[in-house]
Amino acid sequence: MSWHPVLPAGELEDRTPTAADVDGRAVCLVRLGEELHAFDDACPHRQWPLHLGALDGAVLRCRAHTWEWDVRDGSLQRMRAPECLTMHETREQDGMVEVFLDPAAPAAKPLSPLWKRQVEAAGVAGSAS
Ligand code: FES
Repeated sequence: MSWHPVLPAGELEDRTPTAADVDGRAVCLVRLGEELHAFDDACPHRQWPLHLGALDGAVLRCRAHTWEWDVRDGSLQRMRAPECLTMHETREQDGMVEVFLDPAAPAAKPLSPLWKRQVEAAGVAGSAS
């Protein structure tokens, strides 16, 4: 268990979902002003990369089927299943955004080959690893 430095805090743009590799785990980072939030970069529905979604206030809408979550606590805001985001603690330390990976967190689900092809076809190659 440890904190992982991810990127300089100045490089995380406000209200811009940003993909990051945190010790081999795909994480989406979101800055809301002074708040930092981190969660698995995989939609709980079909694992579409969430950093490709649209942010409206604190609500992130998945690009694939428009499920929505509050990025502050991972709670589902709209759609069918009560699946929340897998959240990770995050902080700014010595000018770096850091993410804490809890080994007790459930493993991230991989994107299926079919969906990986669709993500790549959408012109976002390299984000479906
Ligand atoms: S993959 Fe995100 S809503 Fe379906």
